[in-house]
Amino acid sequence: MNDKIANIKAMKGRERIASLTAYDYSMARILDGAGIPLLLVGDSLGMVVLGYPDTTRVTMADMEHHVRAVARAKPRALLGADLPHQSCLTPASAVTNARRLIAAGAEAVKGEGGRKMAPQVRAIVDAGIPFLGHIGMLPQNAVTEGGYHVKGKSAAERAALLDDAAALVEAGAFGIVLELVVPDLAAEITRSVPIPTIGIGAGPDCDGEILVTLDLFGMSDFIPRHVKKHWAFGEQMRAAAVEWMKGVREGKKASG
Ligand code: KIV
Repeated sequence: MNDKIANIKAMKGRERIASLTAYDYSMARILDGAGIPLLLVGDSLGMVVLGYPDTTRVTMADMEHHVRAVARAKPRALLGADLPHQSCLTPASAVTNARRLIAAGAEAVKGEGGRKMAPQVRAIVDAGIPFLGHIGMLPQNAVTEGGYHVKGKSAAERAALLDDAAALVEAGAFGIVLELVVPDLAAEITRSVPIPTIGIGAGPDCDGEILVTLDLFGMSDFIPRHVKKHWAFGEQMRAAAVEWMKGVREGKKASG
């Protein structure tokens, strides 16, 4: 098994996994310099980088473009990349598209879905590509579901999510992202699987957490409720631009 994957798996129960998204070379260098062990080129790039209203318009070409940029930073972190909307309709297309992301520089791929996605996950893992699962609220379904709803509130949803997690383990996933899952269920899933769970809006008891970096840094349009603390870099950048602009207007030489 790839050392980076083995390291992430070995963190379960020892050290919480702090994971962030990266979409370009410079941000990847900064986050990798901080020692983040898992960087994800998420399809959230559709919203926070490309300005789409949701993630469903992100294409394989978009993903490859951003994966290449992040890979040029040669991160020490494990570099994961999202399989975008409708890229995994069959096991064969899932493998073809996972291979494209690996060819672009990713070291692992992530895809949304549990039991229904298991044949695709098995095919990807059998092709030698490490797979990170993603269950709970699936952003690629948010349009059809009419929003970003917390999952696991009913007994049926709880049972289905436990089953999804088990299916991903059986299919060979090395970890599972739990998004907007009620915290006590996220804790139960975390106890029930031998692989790390990485939560986003899923309470404190997952094996790690992941955030969209632009949310953490206060640079996106809207900071989701699950981001408990964020830095106001967006505001600082605006203030820096204003200060620099004033210098230019006043004829001061603000740069070298
Ligand atoms: O697209 C994304 O960035 C994600 C993570 C935040 C889990 O899926």
